[in-house]
Amino acid sequence: MNEQIVILDFGSQYTQVIARRVRECNVYSTIVHFNTPAAKIAAMKPSGIILSGGPSSVYAPKAPLPDENIFNLGVPVLGICFGVQLLAQFLGGKVEKGQKREYGKGTLTIKDKSCALFSKLPKSLQVWNSHGDKLTKIPNGFKPVAVTENSEYAAIENRAKKFFGLQFHPEVVHTPRGKEILANFVHGVCGCGKNWTMRNYLEQAVEEIRAQVRQEKVILGLSGGVDSSVAAALLHKAIGSQLTCIFVNNGLLRAREADVVREVFGRNFKMKLQYENSSALFLKKLKGVTDPETKRKIIGRAFVDVFQAATKRAGKAKFLAQGTLYPDVIESVPIAGNPAALIKSHHNVGGLPKNMKFQLVEPLKNLFKDEVRLLGLELGLPKEIVWRQPFPGPGLAVRILGEVSPKRCEILRNADAIVVEEMKASGLYYKIWQSFAVLLPVRSVGVMGDERTYDYTIAIRAVESQDGMTADWVKLPYDLLEKLASRIINEVKGVNRCVFDITSKPPGTIEWE
Ligand code: XMP
Repeated sequence: MNEQIVILDFGSQYTQVIARRVRECNVYSTIVHFNTPAAKIAAMKPSGIILSGGPSSVYAPKAPLPDENIFNLGVPVLGICFGVQLLAQFLGGKVEKGQKREYGKGTLTIKDKSCALFSKLPKSLQVWNSHGDKLTKIPNGFKPVAVTENSEYAAIENRAKKFFGLQFHPEVVHTPRGKEILANFVHGVCGCGKNWTMRNYLEQAVEEIRAQVRQEKVILGLSGGVDSSVAAALLHKAIGSQLTCIFVNNGLLRAREADVVREVFGRNFKMKLQYENSSALFLKKLKGVTDPETKRKIIGRAFVDVFQAATKRAGKAKFLAQGTLYPDVIESVPIAGNPAALIKSHHNVGGLPKNMKFQLVEPLKNLFKDEVRLLGLELGLPKEIVWRQPFPGPGLAVRILGEVSPKRCEILRNADAIVVEEMKASGLYYKIWQSFAVLLPVRSVGVMGDERTYDYTIAIRAVESQDGMTADWVKLPYDLLEKLASRIINEVKGVNRCVFDITSKPPGTIEWE
């Protein structure tokens, strides 16, 4: 990880997107807090610095401001939106409240084709704007290189210093060629090669794990989800039989889930896999419980107990491995309430008790989710695991409204298996965020053959989402819906009605609970 781009976060909701785009150019990127001292940034030996956008005005009394010495490090700087206004503010330009807020699509016209940022790009580009303030005077040494309908300084540069500013957002998908602009910055201006690949990362991560763990034993809680699965495969590659994976069957798993995990990790990878079948225990504790929060608490606590007992049986280990990802460790700037940072804390069930005295190994903590998937493929994990849709820790319990009895688990498991099977057959399963069945607590009357039935209702949920924070329901084709409903009602005993959920998030949530 020699070359890197350092991104200063001023609270934009897109800061992480900038980091991902840079990495998609095969250049490593790190996000740091906006007021990180310049000396600390210099010590990171960045090839370039990007100043993110942010919701503040540079002239506001509490505006987040960087250490001004970052402009004296002799390193190229790219300011985006709020970032270009900072450049102006610090280097002698002027920012004022705009007459009109520039928001949404715009057309960028490049006036100076020799600007390195726009190399190999057409003269006119669609861009995405989102700013109220306006640059009204650019600093000495800078010149305007592109304009939009509303802004004569949509892109500016100081060629000698390699300082650039963009008033629009190159990182978002609504700036279709924005990634090329960022690629021009990191490769063309900063001189970075294309060294950040999952193959390189894999080699390096294996070395780092070996150096950290040495001859000690490591325990990992394997859930079958993407993160813990990739962490397991990576650790196994690095330290082989020093790793023990503990897989807890809480009785709330989907059809074949336990089999797939045992097959892939036990039989194919030949990992030490300790399978804890605790279904009976969990279901006993959940008997008669209908309140969703109580269910979650019971499951969280039972998991800790089972896991703790299992680690003792696994033998003395010094390390506990976790599939923590980069978005979980970025210290987010609170001013904008970075949405990506909120999701884990809200959902993570229980966590492990503080008295478990392990040192942590977190081999994925520099990676974004899409990178973890690429690494999983590099490690030879099957698509079925690498491209799995998210599945909540408390499992089917959050999708069984009312009591979680063995019979109701069976009903949902069977209905869910049909949803997964048909979604895969339609080719939609891997294209959307989640698709699943929910078992409702209502029963209604129906007729099947000559008989009157009084059975449960299954709700089908299919959503698109980027990160689970907001979601839209997917307009599944009618013939697929028809097939789902008819198969579920015909094949799943105890169900006589199917409904399709057309609620977006907000105001709904993705799971029902
Ligand atoms: P909601 O239902 O809040 O879910 O819209 C947002 C995303 O989080 C997943 N989810 C969970 N993930 N443990 C998890 O690891 C949980 O307890 C949990 N509950 C919800 C949900 O599937 C969706 O992707």
